[in-house]
Amino acid sequence: MPDAIATSPKGTRPEGARSEGDASRQVREMFTQIAPRYDLLNHLLSLQLDRLWRARVARRLRPILMRPDALVLDLCCGTGDLAFSLSRSAPARIIGADFSHAMLVRARAKSLLTRSSAIPASPMPFFEADALRLPFADASFDLITTAFGFRNLANYEAGLREIHRLLKPGGTLAILEFTEPPAGLLGDLYRWYFRNVLPRIGSLLSGDRAAYSYLPASVSRFFRPAELASLITTVGYRSVEYRVWTFGTVALHTAVKSL
Ligand SMILES: C[S@@+](CC[C@H](N)C(=O)[O-])C[C@H]1O[C@@H](n2cnc3c(N)ncnc32)[C@H](O)[C@@H]1O
Repeated sequence: MPDAIATSPKGTRPEGARSEGDASRQVREMFTQIAPRYDLLNHLLSLQLDRLWRARVARRLRPILMRPDALVLDLCCGTGDLAFSLSRSAPARIIGADFSHAMLVRARAKSLLTRSSAIPASPMPFFEADALRLPFADASFDLITTAFGFRNLANYEAGLREIHRLLKPGGTLAILEFTEPPAGLLGDLYRWYFRNVLPRIGSLLSGDRAAYSYLPASVSRFFRPAELASLITTVGYRSVEYRVWTFGTVALHTAVKSL
Protein backbone atom coordinates (compact mmCIF):
# COMPACT_ATOMS: atom_id res chain seq x y z
CA MET A 1 0.00 0.00 0.00
CA PRO A 2 1.33 3.48 -0.80
CA ASP A 3 2.10 5.55 2.31
CA ALA A 4 0.58 8.80 1.03
CA ILE A 5 -3.05 7.95 1.63
CA ALA A 6 -5.39 10.88 1.28
CA THR A 7 -8.64 11.67 2.98
CA SER A 8 -10.99 13.86 0.98
CA PRO A 9 -14.01 15.50 2.59
CA LYS A 10 -16.15 12.82 0.93
CA GLY A 11 -14.34 9.90 2.55
CA THR A 12 -10.91 8.40 3.04
CA ARG A 13 -9.08 7.66 -0.22
CA PRO A 14 -5.92 5.58 -0.36
CA GLU A 15 -3.75 6.96 -3.13
CA GLY A 16 -4.60 5.21 -6.35
CA ALA A 17 -8.01 4.06 -5.14
CA ARG A 18 -10.42 4.53 -8.02
CA SER A 19 -13.63 3.98 -6.13
CA GLU A 20 -15.12 3.79 -2.66
CA GLY A 21 -14.88 0.01 -2.93
CA ASP A 22 -11.16 0.28 -3.62
CA ALA A 23 -10.63 2.64 -0.68
CA SER A 24 -12.56 0.38 1.64
CA ARG A 25 -10.61 -2.70 0.60
CA GLN A 26 -7.27 -0.99 1.16
CA VAL A 27 -8.31 0.25 4.61
CA ARG A 28 -9.51 -3.24 5.57
CA GLU A 29 -6.24 -4.81 4.42
CA MET A 30 -4.24 -2.23 6.36
CA PHE A 31 -6.07 -2.91 9.65
CA THR A 32 -5.92 -6.65 9.08
CA GLN A 33 -2.16 -6.35 8.61
CA ILE A 34 -1.59 -4.42 11.86
CA ALA A 35 -4.16 -6.32 13.98
CA PRO A 36 -1.57 -8.44 15.86
CA ARG A 37 0.21 -5.35 17.23
CA TYR A 38 -2.76 -2.95 17.25
CA ASP A 39 -3.45 -2.89 21.01
CA LEU A 40 0.20 -2.65 22.00
CA LEU A 41 0.82 0.26 19.62
CA ASN A 42 -2.41 2.00 20.56
CA HIS A 43 -1.50 2.13 24.23
CA LEU A 44 2.18 2.88 23.59
CA LEU A 45 1.78 5.61 20.98
CA SER A 46 -1.00 7.40 22.86
CA LEU A 47 0.99 7.15 26.10
CA GLN A 48 -2.00 5.19 27.50
CA LEU A 49 -4.32 8.16 26.89
CA ASP A 50 -6.55 5.99 24.67
CA ARG A 51 -7.75 4.17 27.81
CA LEU A 52 -8.65 7.47 29.45
CA TRP A 53 -10.52 8.72 26.35
CA ARG A 54 -12.63 5.56 26.10
CA ALA A 55 -13.43 5.71 29.84
CA ARG A 56 -14.52 9.34 29.39
CA VAL A 57 -16.80 8.37 26.52
CA ALA A 58 -18.37 5.69 28.72
CA ARG A 59 -18.89 8.20 31.55
CA ARG A 60 -20.49 10.67 29.19
CA LEU A 61 -22.91 8.03 27.86
CA ARG A 62 -23.68 6.53 31.25
CA PRO A 63 -27.38 7.54 31.35
CA ILE A 64 -27.97 5.33 28.28
CA LEU A 65 -25.61 2.56 29.37
CA MET A 66 -27.35 2.22 32.74
CA ARG A 67 -30.65 1.26 31.04
CA PRO A 68 -30.97 -2.56 31.04
CA ASP A 69 -33.21 -2.36 27.95
CA ALA A 70 -30.71 -0.30 25.91
CA LEU A 71 -29.10 -1.89 22.86
CA VAL A 72 -25.75 -0.41 21.85
CA LEU A 73 -23.66 -0.92 18.70
CA ASP A 74 -19.93 -0.11 18.75
CA LEU A 75 -19.05 0.40 15.11
CA CYS A 76 -15.52 -0.07 13.75
CA CYS A 77 -14.93 -1.77 17.09
CA GLY A 78 -11.49 -3.15 16.19
CA THR A 79 -10.24 -5.30 19.07
CA GLY A 80 -13.19 -4.18 21.19
CA ASP A 81 -11.66 -1.73 23.66
CA LEU A 82 -14.44 0.89 23.49
CA ALA A 83 -17.13 -1.80 23.63
CA PHE A 84 -15.50 -3.25 26.76
CA SER A 85 -15.24 0.22 28.36
CA LEU A 86 -18.93 0.80 27.65
CA SER A 87 -19.91 -2.54 29.16
CA ARG A 88 -17.94 -2.08 32.38
CA SER A 89 -20.45 -1.99 35.25
CA ALA A 90 -23.32 -1.12 32.89
CA PRO A 91 -26.34 -3.32 32.17
CA ALA A 92 -26.96 -2.17 28.55
CA ARG A 93 -26.51 -4.89 25.90
CA ILE A 94 -23.49 -4.08 23.73
CA ILE A 95 -22.43 -5.57 20.43
CA GLY A 96 -19.50 -4.71 18.16
CA ALA A 97 -19.04 -4.62 14.39
CA ASP A 98 -15.97 -4.25 12.21
CA PHE A 99 -14.99 -5.34 8.71
CA SER A 100 -11.57 -6.71 9.63
CA HIS A 101 -11.81 -10.37 10.58
CA ALA A 102 -8.38 -10.30 12.22
CA MET A 103 -9.44 -7.45 14.53
CA LEU A 104 -12.61 -9.32 15.50
CA VAL A 105 -10.71 -12.52 16.31
CA ARG A 106 -8.82 -10.49 18.93
CA ALA A 107 -11.98 -8.78 20.18
CA ARG A 108 -13.63 -12.17 20.64
CA ALA A 109 -10.62 -13.60 22.51
CA LYS A 110 -10.57 -10.54 24.81
CA SER A 111 -14.30 -10.78 25.45
CA LEU A 112 -13.83 -14.29 26.82
CA LEU A 113 -11.70 -12.67 29.52
CA THR A 114 -13.64 -9.38 29.86
CA ARG A 115 -17.22 -10.56 30.30
CA SER A 116 -20.19 -8.20 29.97
CA SER A 117 -21.69 -7.37 33.37
CA ALA A 118 -25.20 -7.86 31.96
CA ILE A 119 -24.59 -11.41 30.72
CA PRO A 120 -21.64 -12.65 32.81
CA ALA A 121 -21.64 -16.09 31.21
CA SER A 122 -21.66 -14.94 27.54
CA PRO A 123 -18.93 -13.36 25.48
CA MET A 124 -19.83 -10.07 23.80
CA PRO A 125 -21.27 -10.60 20.27
CA PHE A 126 -19.17 -9.28 17.38
CA PHE A 127 -20.25 -9.03 13.75
CA GLU A 128 -18.08 -8.85 10.64
CA ALA A 129 -19.69 -6.10 8.59
CA ASP A 130 -19.01 -2.94 6.61
CA ALA A 131 -20.13 0.25 8.38
CA LEU A 132 -21.64 1.50 5.12
CA ARG A 133 -23.90 -1.58 4.69
CA LEU A 134 -24.77 -3.03 8.07
CA PRO A 135 -26.84 -6.22 8.43
CA PHE A 136 -29.24 -4.79 11.06
CA ALA A 137 -32.86 -3.68 10.83
CA ASP A 138 -33.92 -0.03 10.82
CA ALA A 139 -34.34 1.59 14.25
CA SER A 140 -32.54 -1.18 16.16
CA PHE A 141 -30.19 0.70 18.50
CA ASP A 142 -30.44 3.20 21.35
CA LEU A 143 -26.79 4.21 20.97
CA ILE A 144 -24.18 3.81 18.23
CA THR A 145 -20.57 4.63 19.09
CA THR A 146 -17.39 4.62 17.08
CA ALA A 147 -13.84 5.36 18.24
CA PHE A 148 -11.10 6.23 15.76
CA GLY A 149 -12.99 4.39 13.01
CA PHE A 150 -15.22 6.99 11.39
CA ARG A 151 -12.28 8.84 9.77
CA ASN A 152 -11.49 5.66 7.82
CA LEU A 153 -14.86 5.34 6.10
CA ALA A 154 -14.89 5.63 2.32
CA ASN A 155 -17.96 7.88 2.45
CA TYR A 156 -18.65 9.94 5.59
CA GLU A 157 -22.13 11.08 4.64
CA ALA A 158 -23.18 7.53 3.75
CA GLY A 159 -21.78 6.37 7.11
CA LEU A 160 -23.81 8.96 8.99
CA ARG A 161 -26.95 8.01 7.04
CA GLU A 162 -26.45 4.30 7.74
CA ILE A 163 -26.06 5.03 11.48
CA HIS A 164 -29.18 7.22 11.31
CA ARG A 165 -31.12 4.34 9.73
CA LEU A 166 -30.09 1.99 12.54
CA LEU A 167 -30.80 4.34 15.46
CA LYS A 168 -34.18 4.28 17.15
CA PRO A 169 -35.96 7.66 17.17
CA GLY A 170 -34.33 9.55 20.06
CA GLY A 171 -31.22 7.32 19.81
CA THR A 172 -27.72 8.76 20.22
CA LEU A 173 -24.66 8.82 17.97
CA ALA A 174 -21.18 9.25 19.53
CA ILE A 175 -18.03 9.64 17.41
CA LEU A 176 -14.59 9.79 19.05
CA GLU A 177 -11.88 10.87 16.61
CA PHE A 178 -8.44 12.38 16.46
CA THR A 179 -8.29 16.00 15.47
CA GLU A 180 -5.50 18.48 14.74
CA PRO A 181 -4.68 20.65 17.77
CA PRO A 182 -4.55 24.43 17.27
CA ALA A 183 -1.23 26.15 16.45
CA GLY A 184 1.01 27.02 19.40
CA LEU A 185 3.82 25.38 21.27
CA LEU A 186 1.87 22.31 22.43
CA GLY A 187 0.09 21.90 19.09
CA ASP A 188 3.37 22.14 17.19
CA LEU A 189 5.06 19.69 19.52
CA TYR A 190 2.17 17.27 19.06
CA ARG A 191 2.33 17.62 15.27
CA TRP A 192 6.06 16.93 15.32
CA TYR A 193 5.49 13.80 17.44
CA PHE A 194 2.51 12.64 15.32
CA ARG A 195 4.29 13.13 11.98
CA ASN A 196 7.86 12.16 12.83
CA VAL A 197 8.08 9.96 15.93
CA LEU A 198 4.81 8.01 15.78
CA PRO A 199 5.24 6.67 12.20
CA ARG A 200 8.77 5.47 13.00
CA ILE A 201 7.78 3.59 16.19
CA GLY A 202 4.62 2.28 14.52
CA SER A 203 6.57 1.05 11.54
CA LEU A 204 9.24 -0.57 13.70
CA LEU A 205 6.84 -2.48 15.93
CA SER A 206 4.13 -3.37 13.40
CA GLY A 207 6.31 -3.88 10.34
CA ASP A 208 3.82 -1.71 8.40
CA ARG A 209 5.22 1.71 7.54
CA ALA A 210 2.22 2.71 5.44
CA ALA A 211 -0.32 2.22 8.25
CA TYR A 212 1.45 4.52 10.66
CA SER A 213 2.08 7.17 8.00
CA TYR A 214 -1.59 6.95 7.11
CA LEU A 215 -2.61 7.85 10.67
CA PRO A 216 -1.21 11.43 10.79
CA ALA A 217 -2.00 12.01 7.09
CA SER A 218 -5.63 10.98 7.48
CA VAL A 219 -6.07 13.05 10.66
CA SER A 220 -4.71 16.18 9.00
CA ARG A 221 -7.11 15.71 6.06
CA PHE A 222 -10.13 14.90 8.21
CA PHE A 223 -12.77 17.46 9.19
CA ARG A 224 -12.10 20.00 11.91
CA PRO A 225 -14.60 19.43 14.77
CA ALA A 226 -16.93 22.25 13.69
CA GLU A 227 -16.98 20.90 10.10
CA LEU A 228 -17.90 17.40 11.25
CA ALA A 229 -20.63 18.87 13.49
CA SER A 230 -21.99 20.70 10.47
CA LEU A 231 -22.06 17.53 8.33
CA ILE A 232 -23.83 15.61 11.13
CA THR A 233 -26.45 18.38 11.26
CA THR A 234 -26.87 18.38 7.46
CA VAL A 235 -27.57 14.65 7.49
CA GLY A 236 -30.52 15.30 9.83
CA TYR A 237 -29.42 14.73 13.40
CA ARG A 238 -30.36 17.17 16.16
CA SER A 239 -28.65 18.28 19.41
CA VAL A 240 -25.27 18.04 17.69
CA GLU A 241 -22.48 18.81 20.17
CA TYR A 242 -18.77 18.27 20.44
CA ARG A 243 -16.06 18.65 23.03
CA VAL A 244 -12.32 18.50 22.45
CA TRP A 245 -9.97 16.84 24.93
CA THR A 246 -6.26 16.60 25.64
CA PHE A 247 -5.09 19.92 24.17
CA GLY A 248 -7.40 19.60 21.18
CA THR A 249 -6.03 16.26 19.96
CA VAL A 250 -9.29 14.26 20.15
CA ALA A 251 -12.93 15.25 19.78
CA LEU A 252 -16.12 13.55 20.90
CA HIS A 253 -19.18 14.42 18.79
CA THR A 254 -22.64 13.45 20.02
CA ALA A 255 -25.97 13.84 18.27
CA VAL A 256 -29.51 12.55 18.51
CA LYS A 257 -31.91 11.13 15.91
CA SER A 258 -35.17 13.05 16.02
CA LEU A 259 -38.22 11.43 17.64
C1 LIG B 1 -8.24 2.75 14.39
S1 LIG B 1 -9.20 1.30 14.50
C2 LIG B 1 -10.22 1.64 15.90
C3 LIG B 1 -10.62 0.41 16.65
C4 LIG B 1 -11.35 0.64 17.96
N1 LIG B 1 -12.59 1.35 17.77
C5 LIG B 1 -10.49 1.35 18.97
O1 LIG B 1 -10.95 2.32 19.57
O2 LIG B 1 -9.36 0.91 19.17
C6 LIG B 1 -10.30 1.50 13.16
C7 LIG B 1 -11.16 0.27 12.91
O3 LIG B 1 -12.18 0.63 11.99
C8 LIG B 1 -12.43 -0.47 11.15
N2 LIG B 1 -13.08 0.04 9.93
C9 LIG B 1 -12.64 0.99 9.09
N3 LIG B 1 -13.51 1.17 8.09
C10 LIG B 1 -14.55 0.31 8.32
C11 LIG B 1 -15.77 0.03 7.65
N4 LIG B 1 -16.10 0.64 6.52
N5 LIG B 1 -16.59 -0.89 8.19
C12 LIG B 1 -16.26 -1.55 9.32
N6 LIG B 1 -15.12 -1.34 10.00
C13 LIG B 1 -14.27 -0.41 9.51
C14 LIG B 1 -11.05 -1.07 10.92
O4 LIG B 1 -11.11 -2.40 10.48
C15 LIG B 1 -10.43 -0.91 12.30
O5 LIG B 1 -10.61 -2.06 13.09
